[in-house]
Amino acid sequence: MNKVVFFFLLCHHLLLRPETLSATTLPAIFVFGDSTIDVGNNNFLPDNAPKANFPPYGVDYPGQKSTGRFCNGFLGIDFIAKAMGLAASPPSFLSLSNAKQTPRRGVNFASAGSGILPTTGNGVIVMSAQIRYFEGVAAGLRLGTRTHKKGVSAPLSESLFFFSVGSNDLFAFAATLIPGNDTRVAEIVAPIIDKFKTQLQMLYHMGARKFAVAGTGLLGCIPAIRVLDPSYECNVNLNHLSMHFKNATEALLEELRISLRGFEYSFADAYEMGIQIDADLQEYGFTEPRAACCGSGRLNAEGRCTPNATYCRNRNQYLFWDMNHPTQALYKVIAQLWLFGPPEFAYPVNLQSLLQS
Ligand SMILES: *[C@@H]1O[C@H](CO)[C@@H](O)[C@H](O)[C@H]1NC(C)=O
Ligand SMILES: *[C@@H]1O[C@H](CO)[C@@H](O)[C@H](O)[C@H]1NC(C)=O
Ligand SMILES: *[C@@H]1O[C@H](CO)[C@@H](O)[C@H](O)[C@H]1NC(C)=O
Repeated sequence: MNKVVFFFLLCHHLLLRPETLSATTLPAIFVFGDSTIDVGNNNFLPDNAPKANFPPYGVDYPGQKSTGRFCNGFLGIDFIAKAMGLAASPPSFLSLSNAKQTPRRGVNFASAGSGILPTTGNGVIVMSAQIRYFEGVAAGLRLGTRTHKKGVSAPLSESLFFFSVGSNDLFAFAATLIPGNDTRVAEIVAPIIDKFKTQLQMLYHMGARKFAVAGTGLLGCIPAIRVLDPSYECNVNLNHLSMHFKNATEALLEELRISLRGFEYSFADAYEMGIQIDADLQEYGFTEPRAACCGSGRLNAEGRCTPNATYCRNRNQYLFWDMNHPTQALYKVIAQLWLFGPPEFAYPVNLQSLLQS
């Protein structure tokens, strides 16, 4: 698409800020993945799990609440849920006192630090466990439709299944990369994609039909990685690994669409979005692409974002909130591109089209 036209469309959508998408039914959302989409499950885990339930996390969230989101404010899933007409993104699974009281808008099973492989993450809810939890919730939903009218929710086939996962698996293998050796890259990617395939198939067989999957982004450009380079450049090997992985994810989704009847998806190409945003930083409203807003040391990426860390004032101009995670401002742009963007960012259809299908 012509760049000027694209920016016109993007600004148009940002200004209109549609309150709701015109979907025929209001679907529930089920969310799986890592810290990019965890809204508080890790708050309930033992101390060794990664946590963000203390200030200044949440400094821009309503009431300055530290919800457990690894961000200064809302995550992408929050902006998407609001665009879908939901009051908020679905609550974390572990915050529900009774799984049978599953809120109609869905449940979030994501856990910071987790990955696709069971070996990724320490003391967190790995993907296989997230899927088991969902299985329990889905059983409760069916029970609810039979016993009490109030519990009736949209069928699973109309619900949206969100995934944002894979980065932690790739980080875990970063040290084993051999620069320029694509055989090694393929060796790392294949078993992760295999496992992801099994997980998506399991959910399909439980009734899921609409999949919204975020690909891995420019992992070599996060502050925690940039600060390892004396000139703060992105790590090209890590970016290369991420590009292979996101391409393989896209290929997997297409394979599943062809082989599983009724399987539909929207893939967010966060890698391409990252390249585009970096190239046109100011048009998207950013001025600081490298440093984290909150933390300590060089690029604010040598020390964690803790209660006594310093944080920037112009948070809307930063891509990164802490050394590993985007700001609310970046999440908002990503959500808009996924909801309404062209196929180079949201493939084969954007979320708006997936919802209306
Ligand atoms: C590339 O990686 C493969 C798989 O790990 C390995 O067998 C091979 O020796 C490597 N080649 C080079 C030139 O390092
Ligand atoms: C990934 O896909 C893009 C286009 O979508 C292509 O340009 C690139 O060569 C692919 N990379 C790999 C490693 O397959
Ligand atoms: C607060 O800062 C000091 C150094 O100034 C550091 O040693 C300490 O670990 C920090 N506390 C927390 C909770 O991060």
